[in-house]
Amino acid sequence: MEIEKCKVLIDEGAIARRVTELAEEISAAYEGKKLLLVCVLKGAVIFASDLMRRLKIPVEIDFIAVSSYGTDTVSSGVVRILKDLDSSIKDKDVLIVEDIVDTGLTLKYLCKNLLSRQPHSLKVVTLLDKPARRLVEYVPDYCGFEIPDHFVIGYGLDFNEDYRQLPGVCIYNP
Ligand code: PRP
Repeated sequence: MEIEKCKVLIDEGAIARRVTELAEEISAAYEGKKLLLVCVLKGAVIFASDLMRRLKIPVEIDFIAVSSYGTDTVSSGVVRILKDLDSSIKDKDVLIVEDIVDTGLTLKYLCKNLLSRQPHSLKVVTLLDKPARRLVEYVPDYCGFEIPDHFVIGYGLDFNEDYRQLPGVCIYNP
């Protein structure tokens, strides 16, 4: 792996501290309830598993896969479901777990789609938010870090499927 192409933007320790804070905030907000995490594959899988282990409330997890990008660094604007949830979310308290909000197209679509399935509540947590890149208005309910407009990899995020295992979030400079 060509590590020299990466500059660390958010290191492992900073991520761990922020994930703990988010978990505390979310645990307090959903106290007395059971939460269903909807992890958006593949990028959010590491964030979701770290967040889940820090939550202090009963929690379930399900997975959905959507496509919003081709194999390039530019959003295609096309969103479709590649793998749907295994179970119904009707009447459940649902929290979508994302790694990054960029144009906002994926979450705009996902929220509309999941709301049509009549959950009791629907909110979104994202580790990263890149508001400078928005094409549609979208504000996540919980956000780990707002970042500038760099292409980032690591902690689940990829470039052409590589680099997801990097412990921190890094800026990709080919
Ligand atoms: C990324 C990310 C979000 C989406 C955000 O996924 O995980 O789902 O793009 O972009 P948007 O706000 O412009 O819609 P990607 O399609 O790269 O798939 P991956 O998670 O499998 O890497």
